[in-house]
Amino acid sequence: NPEGSLYDRIGPENLHRLVTRFYTHVARHPDLIPIFPADLTLTAQKQEAFLTGFLGGPPLYHQQYGHPRLRARHLPFQITPVRAQAWLACMNRALRETPEIRDEDARELYAALSRVAVHMVNAE
Ligand code: HEM
Repeated sequence: NPEGSLYDRIGPENLHRLVTRFYTHVARHPDLIPIFPADLTLTAQKQEAFLTGFLGGPPLYHQQYGHPRLRARHLPFQITPVRAQAWLACMNRALRETPEIRDEDARELYAALSRVAVHMVNAE
């Protein structure tokens, strides 16, 4: 891609804005509150580090925390299809509130996250 990775196109500042907005929605979502910690500071830092590498930027999560083993890390939490949809709805809202991210980049990011979210479902 001549414009670089999705990370390059979105940029670190906009990724930070997106992740911050995303967790403000997670913190208020009735389906998600029961499984997330009250203090989302570290969760947000880890997610920002993870997405940086996931989108083609430096592998910050791997460097700080090792292999993410995402599905295994999510097994302690009951992730139902309803909760996966809630998580994606929070992300969709955060993307719409971050107009600095271009529509086509937002769509590409959302599609990639949707594919991962399906694999996190571990309960009915
Ligand atoms: C951590 C829920 C999807 C990446 C977590 C935690 C919960 C959670 C409860 C633990 C928070 C904490 O203790 O700090 C969910 C739900 C999802 C979902 C309900 C819906 C499908 C995803 C997706 C990704 C992702 C799609 C990546 C694209 C992460 C990362 C962490 C995390 C990187 C931090 C892991 C760590 O502790 O090092 N998630 N998650 N999650 N999630 Fe998810």
